[in-house]
Amino acid sequence: MPTIHKHPINLLLDWYRQMRATQPVYFESRYGCWLVFSYADAFHVLNDPVTFSSEPSEREDGRQPGILGMDDPRHRQLRAIIHQAFTPRIIEQLGPRIIAVTNALLDGLQERGEMEVIQEFAYPLPLTIIAELLGVPAEEQAMFRTWSTALTRGFQPSARAARPQAYEENERALRSYFAQKLEERRRAPQDDLMSHLLMASVDGQKLSEEELLDFCKLLLLAGHETTAHLLGNAVVCFDAYPEIAKQVRADPALIMSAIEEILRCFPSVSGALRRATRETILNGQRIEPGQSIMVQAVSANYDETQFPDPEIFDIQRQPNRHLTFGHGIHFCLGAPLARLEARIALPLLLERFPTLKHQPEHSIETIVSPFLVGVKAFHVTL
Ligand code: HEM
Repeated sequence: MPTIHKHPINLLLDWYRQMRATQPVYFESRYGCWLVFSYADAFHVLNDPVTFSSEPSEREDGRQPGILGMDDPRHRQLRAIIHQAFTPRIIEQLGPRIIAVTNALLDGLQERGEMEVIQEFAYPLPLTIIAELLGVPAEEQAMFRTWSTALTRGFQPSARAARPQAYEENERALRSYFAQKLEERRRAPQDDLMSHLLMASVDGQKLSEEELLDFCKLLLLAGHETTAHLLGNAVVCFDAYPEIAKQVRADPALIMSAIEEILRCFPSVSGALRRATRETILNGQRIEPGQSIMVQAVSANYDETQFPDPEIFDIQRQPNRHLTFGHGIHFCLGAPLARLEARIALPLLLERFPTLKHQPEHSIETIVSPFLVGVKAFHVTL
């Protein structure tokens, strides 16, 4: 079984190992925030939403936070509403459509003999699926990509600070787009997620316009950017470890556990933010009320006390309770969709292009930010 040596995440692993051993709960004065490195502490923070709140202390734009930034009981009500519109049955039924979209993307590439994995495969697949699920027509999906990329970059404080106006413009454009689509569905409901969200209610209460817009935005962003990076990271792994790609080609059932190991080693969402509601002691450190805590999912996923030989890439690792989809009340609602897309699309890619290989003349540009781990571009011959 190979060790992880080709991905730049490797550069961080030494630091994470050292932090887990010496300062597992560490106050980073540059961010004004506690960083939590060990699996046990990360799990504890995510598992105690009363002490470690998801609600930000204040919002620059004055709007209410979306579901990710809410605590119970309102969070529980909103989550129940999405559940009505986003059931496991609805997700499972997407299987044939995921196969068709993947094949259509790959058909177009067969002739050319090469592709850039991120733009031509990893992004378009989840974007098409979540856009169709929401009810966005195919011809309008290109605009989504532009807004979504801009908004995701904006999650990084430095990028947002550098171009605050561009961030706001994209946010406004996306919201007014969804407001118009929701209005159309109020007049004429359709069989799509936007219409289901409009109709869903909990305790007789429906979503407010603001909450509807927040949901649409979150589902769009969370629904494709993260999965795109999972697919991209997977192709990088299969290229780095041809033996593993061979095993998966020979036994496609292995893809399930391979995806979990890719999620563990290259978590496309690399952290979660919380805020202390009261004074508390975490692994010997006193955290004051109001202070922020950043759970370092990458470090937790490499914690040797939870994962034996964590730097070995083992697609048959059992158990594999990584924290890439979070844990506790905010556990990712889209995990079944992300897993389904990867489970269908990756074996199809490996089967159709048995000699897929990285083009060494193109260097691999990666993103390793407080929120995302992924590659910007990955050129392969097919
Ligand atoms: C929440 C990761 C795909 C929708 C989360 C959280 C994580 C995460 C870590 C919890 C954050 C926290 O605790 O603060 C990922 C990863 C994905 C992925 C790694 C792909 C590989 C998706 C998809 C969708 C989605 C495809 C929807 C279509 C959501 C929603 C929440 C969430 C709605 C909020 C849940 C709540 O607050 O109760 N995701 N996600 N995610 N995710 Fe995902």
